[in-house]
Amino acid sequence: MLKDEMIERLIQKAAEAFEKAYAPYSNYPVGAALLTDDGVIFDGVNVENAVYPLTICAERVAIFKAVSEGKKSFKAIAVVTKNGGTPCGSCRQVMAEFGLDTIVLIANREGKLLQTTTVSELLPSAFGEADLNQSRD
Ligand code: THU
Repeated sequence: MLKDEMIERLIQKAAEAFEKAYAPYSNYPVGAALLTDDGVIFDGVNVENAVYPLTICAERVAIFKAVSEGKKSFKAIAVVTKNGGTPCGSCRQVMAEFGLDTIVLIANREGKLLQTTTVSELLPSAFGEADLNQSRD
């Protein structure tokens, strides 16, 4: 369970990050704020490139920042867009790598919470480490 105060804080952080997104090609800025199990918040923004496929999403920037700082357990991630868009398939898979129970808060730029869900709801039957460890026979 996440306290209302923390939900507001995460959305606020994601909304602040949203302002720093680098999205000159799509004009679709995204801000994310990721809460670790030990209470640290990492933000992230989408970073686009003139070579379009090199673009990286806000959620993955936040997760990779956290992992590169030694954090691998996450309580929640807030995602802010203009219109309450949900995380793309690639981001869902990357989130799943670090836990299916992570809460996903979807909000708009005004800070309105539009949807509360989890990684397992967003990515049912996720492929994961366990699949790789299954015996062949
Ligand atoms: N984008 C994200 O940052 N996160 C998502 O989950 C969906 C899409 C970005 C990528 C690109 O810069 C822009 O939104 C339009 O696709």
